[in-house]
Amino acid sequence: MSAAKENAAKGALEYVEDGMIVGLGSGTTTAYFVELLGKKMKEEKISVVGVVTSFDTEILAKKAGIPVMPLDGKVNLAVDGADIVKKEYVLKGGGGALTREKIVDYAAEKFIVIADEAKADPNATYPIVVEVVPFSYLYVIEEMKKLGLEPELRVGGKKLGPVVTDNSNFILDCVGEVKGDATEFEKTLNAIPGVVENGVFSKFWKIIIGNEKEFYEF
Ligand code: A5P
Repeated sequence: MSAAKENAAKGALEYVEDGMIVGLGSGTTTAYFVELLGKKMKEEKISVVGVVTSFDTEILAKKAGIPVMPLDGKVNLAVDGADIVKKEYVLKGGGGALTREKIVDYAAEKFIVIADEAKADPNATYPIVVEVVPFSYLYVIEEMKKLGLEPELRVGGKKLGPVVTDNSNFILDCVGEVKGDATEFEKTLNAIPGVVENGVFSKFWKIIIGNEKEFYEF
């Protein structure tokens, strides 16, 4: 139970309106949002359809009573967590769901990032995550090194070998900095053959931070 994560989720809930198609991110902070959204729909008798970003969130949405639909192009609002937040960009991918997250979050008319205060600590660090086609991973590792990053193949916790994403790909956790302009850096990473998507998200509408007592806009 994290009051900070829950408060961040409450902040985003205020933007949900009847009839919306809502992109549902992945991770523990988004899990609070999904639960609260299910309650809001019941209490206020509003109808919302979710577009999920992972199998994990699909299970949570069903549990919360939120109907889900495939991405058909239109998403009114997306709400998603982050591992690190900065004014110019956020880093995501801790849960390995970054590719579907980026598709849904960027497809949305408005994308709100929700995070607990620790994610906004200027001293906090997190690897730059990239999802790669398995065939390419050794090549991409070398390309990442050329960018000054230290990549490592993510391995599973309860399964031997590499983590396999919802899209049947591998994940590289790359220790290092976002260099220069975040939007350009995001494009540079995606231009490497074999990279499916990266965890630098430089396009969002607002960031809502939660702490033990309240939420506020970053
Ligand atoms: C999933 O791939 C991630 O992008 C998550 O959204 C991110 O790691 C935030 O997760 P938590 O809310 O669990 O910290």
